[in-house]
Amino acid sequence: MFYAPAMRLKDCHNIADFRLLAKQRLPWPVFDYIDGAADDELTKNRNTDSFADCDLVPDVLAGVEHIDTSVTIMGRKSALPLILSPTALQRVFHWQGERAVARAAEKFGLWFGISSLATVSIEEIAALVSTPKMFQLYVHKDKGLNASMIQRCKDAKFDAITLTVDTIVGGKRERCLRSGFASPPTFTPSSFMSYAIKPKWALDYLLREKFALPNLDTHVREGTAEAVSIQKYFSEMLDQSMDWKMVEQIRNDWGGTFCLKGVMSVGDARRAADMGIDAIMISNHGGRQLDGSRSPFDQLPEIVDAVGGRIEIICDGGIRRGTHILKSLAAGADCASGGRLYLYALAAAGQAGVERAIQLLKEEIERDMKLMGVTSVDQLNRERLRWR
Ligand code: LAC
Repeated sequence: MFYAPAMRLKDCHNIADFRLLAKQRLPWPVFDYIDGAADDELTKNRNTDSFADCDLVPDVLAGVEHIDTSVTIMGRKSALPLILSPTALQRVFHWQGERAVARAAEKFGLWFGISSLATVSIEEIAALVSTPKMFQLYVHKDKGLNASMIQRCKDAKFDAITLTVDTIVGGKRERCLRSGFASPPTFTPSSFMSYAIKPKWALDYLLREKFALPNLDTHVREGTAEAVSIQKYFSEMLDQSMDWKMVEQIRNDWGGTFCLKGVMSVGDARRAADMGIDAIMISNHGGRQLDGSRSPFDQLPEIVDAVGGRIEIICDGGIRRGTHILKSLAAGADCASGGRLYLYALAAAGQAGVERAIQLLKEEIERDMKLMGVTSVDQLNRERLRWR
């Protein structure tokens, strides 16, 4: 009988390979939480597909022996034009969680972020790595909780706060509705088998450090006292009255480098630029919120035309390849960012996985810049792109 050996880390040559390895190693409710998105997942798919509708036009004979892949973003140098976007619950995906991502980001000289729903504390991450880090703030109804997270970021000297503005209610994540995935993960009679057939994950989850949300745990309901779906969490715990006035207030309370994550319209981008906000992440939350929302890469040119040069623009979502990053830069973004691109790798193999994923993207960026005939990323512009 034909026997296909199980996939291993060294078999991963691109982000899609890490996705397959993560699928092999995770219980399906956990895999589907990472991989899934809202409704029909049209937006999630479009986020990546939109890059295929745009082609690169290379120059040759450009003398590309030495190239510089670095950018300066929010006042800090980044060795690659890539940010590891903040994402939640990372120790559920692999026991090394946020620590692995932080260390890998530091090793490669990159910005990364932790979520309000991180499983490692603001203070621990700040003490662990010196690479630039952002804290992804979700505005809760509980104002004391918001104030406490901002204060903790100040005390820990985080480099930026990134305010999430696209989760005013929870997106309808149908894969999670089917699996019953909750935070903390619960073992129900119907999901029990999915965990039991992945004993390595189950033993790590049960025997290693206990699940916790240490940035929320000071506030009982938002912490780990009860298991809730992320959809319910967003809809019930987050403040739906959030508006531009509140953004101004939060920014003043913080007083440091400030970014908005989830801006999609030109009007909102203009407003952010007029307020003097440092950066926006053009993002639809990985397609996990409003299905049918436009992809960040499709939306990028009109935002660049409106506010480019007045505010830093980060193209967040769908990135799976070095060429996706180069296309984003050529269209006018200051850098690109992504969550799943390193989460699959984290789930697949912890820190070693994340490092391999970043290494592969780094090699792709370097190779593709040389093939494009550019020696620094600022040489990329729309002249080098053709939309089909
Ligand atoms: C999500 C959050 C928590 O599940 O970022 O999309």
